[in-house]
Amino acid sequence: MKQKDLHDFKDVAQNYDLYLDVMYQKEDNHEGFLDFYLDFARKYGKDGVIDIACGTGAVLLYLAENGINADGTDLSEEMCNVAEEKAKAKGFNLNIFPADMTEFRSNKKYSCAIIARSGFMHLTTPKLQRAALLNIRENLVDADEHKRY
Ligand SMILES: C[S@@+](CC[C@H](N)C(=O)[O-])C[C@H]1O[C@@H](n2cnc3c(N)ncnc32)[C@H](O)[C@@H]1O
Repeated sequence: MKQKDLHDFKDVAQNYDLYLDVMYQKEDNHEGFLDFYLDFARKYGKDGVIDIACGTGAVLLYLAENGINADGTDLSEEMCNVAEEKAKAKGFNLNIFPADMTEFRSNKKYSCAIIARSGFMHLTTPKLQRAALLNIRENLVDADEHKRY
């Protein structure tokens, strides 16, 4: 008999923030984590930031709250839904869309891409990792533009 999948993504997405609280509450080295990405976004995100594998939007919302123009994307539609609900509850209308980082396309180009907290580790082969990096590059503003930074 085929084993029933014990998780559905909806459960994971709805409870992900609880997991984050427990997972990181005693992690000293997690201190300043959000500000690391905020500093990075302030430095490089002049033309917008894309938070890839944004999950439930922990980083994305922190950036938005601090005035950064940021979009989010995640493979899981349920994670995107939770991120969007949280954004709306805080009064933000953010562009958050489900997509695979190896092939996503946005309706705009960004000057900064973030993959926070182990999102990239979900790509388990060099082929997938390379595909993601090349694809992310396609979503960034022209290389000449980058030379300004
Ligand atoms: C550990 S969570 C990190 C979430 C968020 N960045 C944070 O810091 O809270 C990893 C996320 O990567 C997403 N993910 C996994 N593979 C992906 C892929 N190929 N493209 C886009 N997102 C992916 C998962 O759906 C999950 O939400």
